[in-house]
Amino acid sequence: MDLKKLFGFEGKTVVITGAASGMAKSATELLLELGANIYAIDINSIDLPVKKAYQADLSKKEEIDHVIDDLPDKIDALFLCHGIAAFPGNELLVQKVNFYSQKYMTEQLLSRISDHGSVTFISSVGGFGWQQVYTKAVELINVPTWEEAMKWYDDHPDLIQSAYVFAKQCLLSYVTYKCMSHEFISRKIRINAINPGDTTTGLTDDFNRSTSPNGDALEGAKMIENIFLKSWNGYAADAKDMGYPLVVIGSDICSYMSGQLIYIDYGLTSSWTSQALLSSNHKTIEEISNDSNN
Ligand SMILES: NC(=O)c1ccc[n+]([C@@H]2O[C@H](COP(=O)([O-])OP(=O)(O)OC[C@H]3O[C@@H](n4cnc5c(N)ncnc54)[C@H](O)[C@@H]3O)[C@@H](O)[C@H]2O)c1
Repeated sequence: MDLKKLFGFEGKTVVITGAASGMAKSATELLLELGANIYAIDINSIDLPVKKAYQADLSKKEEIDHVIDDLPDKIDALFLCHGIAAFPGNELLVQKVNFYSQKYMTEQLLSRISDHGSVTFISSVGGFGWQQVYTKAVELINVPTWEEAMKWYDDHPDLIQSAYVFAKQCLLSYVTYKCMSHEFISRKIRINAINPGDTTTGLTDDFNRSTSPNGDALEGAKMIENIFLKSWNGYAADAKDMGYPLVVIGSDICSYMSGQLIYIDYGLTSSWTSQALLSSNHKTIEEISNDSNN
Protein backbone atom coordinates (compact mmCIF):
# COMPACT_ATOMS: atom_id res chain seq x y z
CA MET A 1 0.00 0.00 0.00
CA ASP A 2 1.27 3.46 -0.92
CA LEU A 3 1.00 5.43 2.33
CA LYS A 4 1.31 8.83 0.67
CA LYS A 5 -1.70 7.98 -1.51
CA LEU A 6 -3.64 6.88 1.57
CA PHE A 7 -3.31 10.38 3.07
CA GLY A 8 -4.28 11.93 -0.27
CA PHE A 9 -2.19 15.11 0.14
CA GLU A 10 0.20 14.55 -2.78
CA GLY A 11 -0.12 17.52 -5.15
CA LYS A 12 -3.05 18.90 -3.09
CA THR A 13 -3.36 22.51 -1.97
CA VAL A 14 -3.26 23.04 1.78
CA VAL A 15 -3.59 26.28 3.75
CA ILE A 16 -2.32 26.24 7.34
CA THR A 17 -2.11 29.00 9.96
CA GLY A 18 0.22 29.28 12.95
CA ALA A 19 2.89 27.35 11.04
CA ALA A 20 5.93 29.21 12.40
CA SER A 21 5.92 27.20 15.63
CA GLY A 22 4.63 24.30 17.70
CA MET A 23 1.82 22.00 16.59
CA ALA A 24 1.16 23.65 13.22
CA LYS A 25 4.88 23.63 12.41
CA SER A 26 4.97 19.86 13.08
CA ALA A 27 1.85 19.42 10.96
CA THR A 28 3.45 21.43 8.14
CA GLU A 29 6.60 19.29 8.27
CA LEU A 30 4.49 16.15 7.87
CA LEU A 31 2.37 17.73 5.10
CA LEU A 32 5.61 18.56 3.24
CA GLU A 33 6.68 14.89 3.55
CA LEU A 34 3.29 13.89 2.15
CA GLY A 35 3.77 16.07 -0.93
CA ALA A 36 1.23 18.85 -0.29
CA ASN A 37 1.52 22.32 -1.86
CA ILE A 38 1.41 24.43 1.29
CA TYR A 39 0.39 28.04 1.81
CA ALA A 40 1.36 28.84 5.38
CA ILE A 41 0.47 31.93 7.43
CA ASP A 42 1.82 33.25 10.74
CA ILE A 43 2.47 36.55 12.49
CA ASN A 44 6.11 35.39 12.71
CA SER A 45 8.30 34.31 9.84
CA ILE A 46 8.02 30.69 8.73
CA ASP A 47 11.28 28.84 8.10
CA LEU A 48 9.93 25.83 6.20
CA PRO A 49 10.16 25.17 2.44
CA VAL A 50 6.45 25.76 1.78
CA LYS A 51 5.05 26.87 -1.58
CA LYS A 52 4.28 30.32 -0.13
CA ALA A 53 4.64 31.78 3.36
CA TYR A 54 2.71 34.86 4.52
CA GLN A 55 3.61 36.97 7.52
CA ALA A 56 0.33 38.47 8.74
CA ASP A 57 -1.44 39.37 11.97
CA LEU A 58 -4.60 37.29 11.83
CA SER A 59 -6.28 39.33 14.56
CA LYS A 60 -6.69 42.07 11.94
CA LYS A 61 -9.41 41.81 9.29
CA GLU A 62 -7.47 43.89 6.72
CA GLU A 63 -4.42 41.62 7.01
CA ILE A 64 -6.58 38.49 6.69
CA ASP A 65 -8.35 39.94 3.64
CA HIS A 66 -4.99 40.76 2.07
CA VAL A 67 -3.77 37.16 2.44
CA ILE A 68 -7.11 35.73 1.29
CA ASP A 69 -6.90 37.81 -1.92
CA ASP A 70 -3.62 36.07 -2.72
CA LEU A 71 -4.49 32.47 -1.77
CA PRO A 72 -5.25 29.95 -4.56
CA ASP A 73 -8.75 29.63 -6.06
CA LYS A 74 -8.96 25.97 -5.04
CA ILE A 75 -8.00 24.66 -1.61
CA ASP A 76 -8.23 21.01 -0.58
CA ALA A 77 -7.60 21.29 3.14
CA LEU A 78 -7.64 24.19 5.56
CA PHE A 79 -5.95 23.91 8.97
CA LEU A 80 -6.59 26.76 11.42
CA CYS A 81 -4.13 26.53 14.28
CA HIS A 82 -2.95 30.00 15.37
CA GLY A 83 -3.51 30.86 19.01
CA ILE A 84 -2.36 32.92 21.98
CA ALA A 85 -2.64 32.77 25.78
CA ALA A 86 -4.91 35.09 27.76
CA PHE A 87 -3.62 37.85 30.03
CA PRO A 88 -5.63 40.48 31.91
CA GLY A 89 -6.63 43.10 29.33
CA ASN A 90 -6.26 41.01 26.15
CA GLU A 91 -9.68 39.30 26.36
CA LEU A 92 -10.94 40.74 23.04
CA LEU A 93 -7.66 40.01 21.24
CA VAL A 94 -7.94 36.38 22.40
CA GLN A 95 -11.46 36.15 20.91
CA LYS A 96 -10.18 37.52 17.60
CA VAL A 97 -7.10 35.31 17.36
CA ASN A 98 -8.40 32.09 18.91
CA PHE A 99 -11.90 32.09 17.43
CA TYR A 100 -13.25 34.92 15.34
CA SER A 101 -10.45 35.08 12.74
CA GLN A 102 -10.76 31.30 12.33
CA LYS A 103 -14.52 31.49 11.72
CA TYR A 104 -13.99 34.45 9.37
CA MET A 105 -11.26 32.70 7.35
CA THR A 106 -13.33 29.51 7.10
CA GLU A 107 -16.32 31.39 5.74
CA GLN A 108 -14.31 33.59 3.37
CA LEU A 109 -12.53 30.54 1.95
CA LEU A 110 -15.38 28.01 1.97
CA SER A 111 -16.36 28.55 -1.68
CA ARG A 112 -12.74 27.71 -2.66
CA ILE A 113 -12.60 24.46 -0.67
CA SER A 114 -13.02 21.47 -2.95
CA ASP A 115 -15.85 18.95 -2.59
CA HIS A 116 -14.84 16.34 0.02
CA GLY A 117 -12.27 18.83 1.34
CA SER A 118 -11.64 19.44 5.03
CA VAL A 119 -11.44 22.20 7.64
CA THR A 120 -9.63 21.28 10.86
CA PHE A 121 -9.10 23.51 13.90
CA ILE A 122 -6.98 23.32 17.01
CA SER A 123 -9.19 24.08 20.00
CA SER A 124 -8.18 22.93 23.52
CA VAL A 125 -9.11 20.95 26.60
CA GLY A 126 -9.68 24.51 27.85
CA GLY A 127 -12.91 24.43 25.79
CA PHE A 128 -14.24 21.47 27.82
CA GLY A 129 -17.80 22.26 28.94
CA TRP A 130 -18.54 24.16 25.71
CA GLN A 131 -22.17 22.98 25.93
CA GLN A 132 -22.76 25.55 28.70
CA VAL A 133 -22.20 28.49 26.32
CA TYR A 134 -23.52 26.86 23.14
CA THR A 135 -26.64 29.04 22.76
CA LYS A 136 -24.63 32.23 23.17
CA ALA A 137 -21.89 30.94 20.86
CA VAL A 138 -24.46 30.17 18.15
CA GLU A 139 -25.82 33.71 18.56
CA LEU A 140 -22.30 35.04 17.91
CA ILE A 141 -21.73 32.62 15.01
CA ASN A 142 -24.82 34.03 13.31
CA VAL A 143 -23.76 37.67 13.62
CA PRO A 144 -23.22 38.48 9.95
CA THR A 145 -20.14 40.73 9.82
CA TRP A 146 -16.76 41.18 11.54
CA GLU A 147 -17.74 44.70 12.66
CA GLU A 148 -21.06 43.56 14.17
CA ALA A 149 -19.29 40.67 15.88
CA MET A 150 -16.90 43.15 17.57
CA LYS A 151 -19.97 45.04 18.79
CA TRP A 152 -21.45 41.72 20.07
CA TYR A 153 -18.25 41.15 22.07
CA ASP A 154 -18.48 44.70 23.49
CA ASP A 155 -22.02 43.90 24.62
CA HIS A 156 -20.99 40.64 26.33
CA PRO A 157 -18.09 41.47 28.67
CA ASP A 158 -19.26 38.76 31.08
CA LEU A 159 -18.66 36.04 28.46
CA ILE A 160 -15.29 37.23 27.22
CA GLN A 161 -14.10 37.52 30.80
CA SER A 162 -13.20 33.81 30.60
CA ALA A 163 -11.07 34.80 27.63
CA TYR A 164 -9.21 31.67 26.44
CA VAL A 165 -11.96 29.33 27.61
CA PHE A 166 -14.77 31.21 25.84
CA ALA A 167 -12.84 31.47 22.56
CA LYS A 168 -12.07 27.73 22.53
CA GLN A 169 -15.66 26.91 23.52
CA CYS A 170 -16.88 29.02 20.58
CA LEU A 171 -14.61 27.04 18.24
CA LEU A 172 -16.06 23.73 19.48
CA SER A 173 -19.59 25.13 19.21
CA TYR A 174 -18.79 26.22 15.65
CA VAL A 175 -17.77 22.69 14.59
CA THR A 176 -20.88 21.22 16.22
CA TYR A 177 -23.21 23.81 14.70
CA LYS A 178 -21.78 23.85 11.17
CA CYS A 179 -20.98 20.20 10.43
CA MET A 180 -24.43 19.43 9.02
CA SER A 181 -25.21 22.90 7.70
CA HIS A 182 -26.04 23.20 4.00
CA GLU A 183 -22.85 25.04 3.11
CA PHE A 184 -20.69 22.19 4.43
CA ILE A 185 -22.81 19.10 3.86
CA SER A 186 -23.97 19.96 0.33
CA ARG A 187 -20.35 19.62 -0.84
CA LYS A 188 -19.32 17.04 1.77
CA ILE A 189 -16.77 19.36 3.35
CA ARG A 190 -15.67 17.88 6.66
CA ILE A 191 -15.12 20.05 9.75
CA ASN A 192 -13.42 18.83 12.93
CA ALA A 193 -11.32 20.07 15.83
CA ILE A 194 -8.61 18.58 18.01
CA ASN A 195 -8.44 19.48 21.70
CA PRO A 196 -4.86 19.20 22.90
CA GLY A 197 -3.91 18.70 26.52
CA ASP A 198 -0.78 20.26 28.02
CA THR A 199 1.82 20.41 25.23
CA THR A 200 5.33 21.87 25.21
CA THR A 201 5.40 24.49 22.43
CA GLY A 202 6.09 28.15 21.81
CA LEU A 203 3.07 28.95 24.01
CA THR A 204 4.26 27.11 27.11
CA ASP A 205 5.95 30.08 28.78
CA ASP A 206 2.92 32.33 28.13
CA PHE A 207 0.54 29.67 29.51
CA ASN A 208 2.74 29.33 32.62
CA ARG A 209 2.82 33.10 33.21
CA SER A 210 -0.89 33.55 32.49
CA THR A 211 -1.91 30.74 34.88
CA SER A 212 -0.07 32.25 37.86
CA PRO A 213 -1.98 35.09 39.58
CA ASN A 214 1.40 36.86 39.93
CA GLY A 215 2.52 36.24 36.35
CA ASP A 216 5.29 34.00 37.71
CA ALA A 217 6.20 31.31 35.12
CA LEU A 218 7.55 28.82 37.70
CA GLU A 219 4.46 29.09 39.89
CA GLY A 220 2.22 28.80 36.79
CA ALA A 221 4.10 25.70 35.61
CA LYS A 222 3.46 24.06 39.02
CA MET A 223 -0.24 24.97 38.86
CA ILE A 224 -0.56 23.53 35.33
CA GLU A 225 1.22 20.38 36.48
CA ASN A 226 -1.29 20.04 39.34
CA ILE A 227 -4.30 20.50 37.04
CA PHE A 228 -3.17 18.47 34.05
CA LEU A 229 -0.38 16.10 34.99
CA LYS A 230 -0.28 15.24 38.72
CA SER A 231 -3.66 13.50 38.70
CA TRP A 232 -2.32 10.75 36.41
CA ASN A 233 1.43 10.99 37.05
CA GLY A 234 1.50 12.29 33.49
CA TYR A 235 3.82 14.17 31.17
CA ALA A 236 3.38 17.02 28.72
CA ALA A 237 2.87 16.14 25.06
CA ASP A 238 5.19 17.51 22.38
CA ALA A 239 4.17 19.33 19.23
CA LYS A 240 4.16 16.20 17.05
CA ASP A 241 1.71 14.47 19.41
CA MET A 242 -0.83 17.06 18.20
CA GLY A 243 0.44 18.09 14.76
CA TYR A 244 0.49 14.56 13.32
CA PRO A 245 -3.06 13.55 14.37
CA LEU A 246 -4.23 16.96 13.07
CA VAL A 247 -2.88 16.03 9.61
CA VAL A 248 -4.51 12.59 9.77
CA ILE A 249 -7.90 14.09 10.63
CA GLY A 250 -7.71 16.53 7.72
CA SER A 251 -6.61 13.76 5.34
CA ASP A 252 -8.49 11.22 3.21
CA ILE A 253 -7.82 8.62 5.93
CA CYS A 254 -10.62 10.24 7.92
CA SER A 255 -12.92 10.70 4.91
CA TYR A 256 -16.11 9.89 6.88
CA MET A 257 -15.24 11.88 10.00
CA SER A 258 -16.96 15.20 10.52
CA GLY A 259 -18.33 17.24 13.43
CA GLN A 260 -15.86 15.64 15.85
CA LEU A 261 -14.17 17.30 18.81
CA ILE A 262 -11.22 15.05 19.42
CA TYR A 263 -9.53 15.27 22.82
CA ILE A 264 -5.84 14.38 22.58
CA ASP A 265 -5.07 14.50 26.28
CA TYR A 266 -4.18 10.96 27.34
CA GLY A 267 -7.70 10.47 28.73
CA LEU A 268 -7.74 13.44 31.10
CA THR A 269 -11.10 14.89 30.01
CA SER A 270 -12.67 11.40 29.95
CA SER A 271 -11.64 11.05 33.58
CA TRP A 272 -13.24 14.44 34.35
CA THR A 273 -16.44 13.17 32.69
CA SER A 274 -16.27 9.94 34.65
CA GLN A 275 -15.85 11.80 37.95
CA ALA A 276 -18.71 14.19 37.12
CA LEU A 277 -21.07 11.34 36.15
CA LEU A 278 -20.29 9.36 39.28
CA SER A 279 -20.57 12.34 41.59
CA SER A 280 -23.92 13.27 40.03
CA ASN A 281 -25.03 9.80 41.22
CA HIS A 282 -23.37 10.54 44.59
CA LYS A 283 -20.86 7.72 44.02
CA THR A 284 -17.08 7.67 44.15
CA ILE A 285 -15.02 5.24 42.07
CA GLU A 286 -14.16 3.41 45.35
CA GLU A 287 -17.85 3.02 46.27
CA ILE A 288 -18.66 1.58 42.83
CA SER A 289 -15.80 -0.93 43.20
CA ASN A 290 -17.06 -1.90 46.67
CA ASP A 291 -20.65 -2.28 45.32
CA SER A 292 -19.51 -4.65 42.58
CA ASN A 293 -17.35 -6.68 45.01
CA ASN A 294 -20.29 -7.20 47.39
N1 LIG B 1 0.52 24.24 23.97
C1 LIG B 1 -0.54 23.79 24.64
O1 LIG B 1 -0.43 23.28 25.76
C2 LIG B 1 -1.91 23.90 24.01
C3 LIG B 1 -2.97 23.19 24.61
C4 LIG B 1 -4.22 23.26 24.03
C5 LIG B 1 -4.41 24.00 22.87
N2 LIG B 1 -3.38 24.70 22.31
C6 LIG B 1 -3.63 25.43 21.07
O2 LIG B 1 -2.79 24.91 20.06
C7 LIG B 1 -2.67 25.88 19.01
C8 LIG B 1 -1.23 25.91 18.54
O3 LIG B 1 -0.43 26.49 19.57
P1 LIG B 1 0.98 25.90 20.02
O4 LIG B 1 0.79 25.33 21.37
O5 LIG B 1 1.57 25.07 18.95
O6 LIG B 1 1.80 27.27 20.26
P2 LIG B 1 2.86 28.05 19.36
O7 LIG B 1 3.01 29.38 19.98
O8 LIG B 1 4.06 27.22 19.21
O9 LIG B 1 2.09 28.20 17.95
C9 LIG B 1 1.07 29.15 17.77
C10 LIG B 1 1.38 29.95 16.51
O10 LIG B 1 0.31 30.90 16.32
C11 LIG B 1 0.93 32.09 15.84
N3 LIG B 1 0.08 33.26 16.09
C12 LIG B 1 -0.26 33.78 17.29
N4 LIG B 1 -0.98 34.89 17.12
C13 LIG B 1 -1.12 35.07 15.79
C14 LIG B 1 -1.73 36.07 15.00
N5 LIG B 1 -2.36 37.12 15.54
N6 LIG B 1 -1.66 35.96 13.65
C15 LIG B 1 -1.01 34.92 13.08
N7 LIG B 1 -0.39 33.96 13.77
C16 LIG B 1 -0.44 34.04 15.12
C17 LIG B 1 2.23 32.17 16.64
O11 LIG B 1 3.17 33.06 16.03
C18 LIG B 1 2.69 30.72 16.62
O12 LIG B 1 3.55 30.44 15.52
C19 LIG B 1 -3.18 27.19 19.59
O13 LIG B 1 -4.46 27.45 19.03
C20 LIG B 1 -3.30 26.90 21.09
O14 LIG B 1 -4.30 27.67 21.70
C21 LIG B 1 -2.12 24.66 22.86
